[in-house]
Amino acid sequence: MSAGPGVVAPASRPLAGLVRVPSDKAISHRAAILGALAGGTTVVRDFSPAGDCAATLAVLAALGVGIERVDRGRSDRHGSAKGAAEILVRGVGPDARLAPPPAPLHCGRSGTTMRMLAGALAGFPSRFAMTGDPQLLRRPMERVAEPLRRMGAGVDLAPGGTPPMVIEGGALHGIEYRLPVASAQVKSAVLLAGLHAEGVTAVVEPVPTRDHTERLLEAMGAAVEAVALPDGARRVTLAPGPLRGVEVDVPGDPSSAAPLVAAATLVPGSDLVIEGVGTNPGRTGFLRVAGRMGARIEILPRPGRGPEPVADLHVRHASLTATTIGAAEVPSLVDELPLVALLASRAEGVTEVRGAEELRVKESDRIAGIVQGLRALGADAEELPDGFVVRGPVELSGGTVEARADHRLAMAFAVAALVSAGPVAIDGLAFVGDSFPGFLELLEGVR
Ligand code: S3P
Repeated sequence: MSAGPGVVAPASRPLAGLVRVPSDKAISHRAAILGALAGGTTVVRDFSPAGDCAATLAVLAALGVGIERVDRGRSDRHGSAKGAAEILVRGVGPDARLAPPPAPLHCGRSGTTMRMLAGALAGFPSRFAMTGDPQLLRRPMERVAEPLRRMGAGVDLAPGGTPPMVIEGGALHGIEYRLPVASAQVKSAVLLAGLHAEGVTAVVEPVPTRDHTERLLEAMGAAVEAVALPDGARRVTLAPGPLRGVEVDVPGDPSSAAPLVAAATLVPGSDLVIEGVGTNPGRTGFLRVAGRMGARIEILPRPGRGPEPVADLHVRHASLTATTIGAAEVPSLVDELPLVALLASRAEGVTEVRGAEELRVKESDRIAGIVQGLRALGADAEELPDGFVVRGPVELSGGTVEARADHRLAMAFAVAALVSAGPVAIDGLAFVGDSFPGFLELLEGVR
């Protein structure tokens, strides 16, 4: 992949029409990993074309899981995101093992792959080594290592708690674990380990995070239960047991729809429908926040198959006002906060985001990245240790920005370019493919 600069020009016309976005990355990872553990075949329709999900499939294949890609020859309608496929995952079932290959399992740039697999592998009595691209080798893994060690696994990391990771799996026992950070990945890792543990595993999350893992576990026959606690926390319990393969229809990814929602909101005259987007409440914080700022977003539910809600999003251009976001809201829009900063630069008033320190340990430090990038385009933005402040509205100029090899920053800057006075050169634009192959071609329609 070229990591060099790409230039995005201002929009020459409104965004209009009907588009689809790639299917959900988080659900695709989970369907593949849980399918690998289940008995029988799991059919994943519209598996995400994201580079990160390809990393998960490659790791599962290296572990001996049968993965088959079925090409149904879907015609790629105009405006559709390309590359969705049907995947068959031949699960190893309760009596077989995932076997470590001689070389370390390579997770690419995907933190979700490494963290969720750590939990899935911890229950198998073998030694598994996992590594990844330099970007992944900087990300914190102690957050999964610590609960897995408490459950009885051996987990080694580099000094500083980063990968490579080595897991000595084996006899696990259930624990009650209160998440120190509100992370769906850590919750999922503990629950996946709990499938092979003795006794019940419980995870208490201080702020509810996306529950795709719980929904899929339940659909696959696991004894999983979630209870809301009086202080706003949520307690998820899981009893160990076998899973059965299921059919999963993956909806469009709300995190990939978000840049288009932002673009249609910002580019005057836009009127865009994004079809078939997942609307799990743990993922729709951006729609709620944008709506609060004045965005015109109609959510038109669709009859969906399977455990996840789905809707079409009808978005029209709107003028925006500032808002405030705190820790309780962050998990529901954690990947969309760079776009909130962009909307805020065009909104009337002072927008403040707090309780979002997790952004500093994503694919890049997204607080520094978005603030520096927007400032380079003329925005009035400031970093806070756990968030940012943006004062608007400001007319963005063209310029040069650095996406820090981070797909979410690259997409936020590409949308910023649409409403800038001149072209924006984005260093690392090609990284959009980590979650949204075809994003630039889709934007091409309005340039
Ligand atoms: C994800 C959860 C979030 C999110 C990431 C995907 C998931 O991370 O930022 O892109 O699939 O569970 P955390 O769980 O670390 O907050």
